[in-house]
Amino acid sequence: MIKIKNISAQETYEIRLSVLRNNIDLPFKFEGDEDKRTFHLGAFYEEKLVGIASFMRNRIDVVKGQQYQLRGMATLPEVRGMGAGKMLIEEAKSILKEKSITALWCNARKEAVGFYENLGFKITGEEFEVSKVGAHFKMYYIVS
Ligand SMILES: CC(C)(COP(=O)(O)OP(=O)(O)OC[C@H]1O[C@@H](n2cnc3c(N)ncnc32)[C@H](O)[C@@H]1OP(=O)(O)O)[C@@H](O)C(=O)NCCC(=O)NCCS
Repeated sequence: MIKIKNISAQETYEIRLSVLRNNIDLPFKFEGDEDKRTFHLGAFYEEKLVGIASFMRNRIDVVKGQQYQLRGMATLPEVRGMGAGKMLIEEAKSILKEKSITALWCNARKEAVGFYENLGFKITGEEFEVSKVGAHFKMYYIVS
């Protein structure tokens, strides 16, 4: 069974490095990681950390109200399709709702767009390129 728990920024680094920064020379520590309003969630399978997601205050103009940005969303290849990614986002939605946050947004890798659409996110704007990573879309979810 997969369980979602709050984790520290430090605990996200190993999976960020192995999944999101594998052969990609970009920082794995993000500005805002240690901000007091930031929270990091971990998905645990048999007590092992298998998925991560970080949520930090940051805004884009296309969405109104109080916003959070999702960053560093990743699950280990061996647990993909088991629901860990979905559980991380669903937990965040309920935390953000309690905080009266209006919207959650992210820069979604093109390959992950279907994952976010499945969770109710919508694309805004055109496809754009992130150097060393590839094609992305801005996506947002209206929390409340
Ligand atoms: C994208 C990622 C986080 C999804 O994690 P996951 O643990 O496999 O997701 P889940 O098992 O919770 O999937 C939830 C649903 O989304 C679907 N889904 C998962 N990845 C998908 C994708 N890339 N495209 C379309 N649908 C996807 C699943 O089939 C599942 O559908 P269901 O609810 O109908 O069964 C994971 O594949 C990953 O870490 N990828 C590499 C890093 C990455 O691209 N991160 C996102 C950066 S923006």
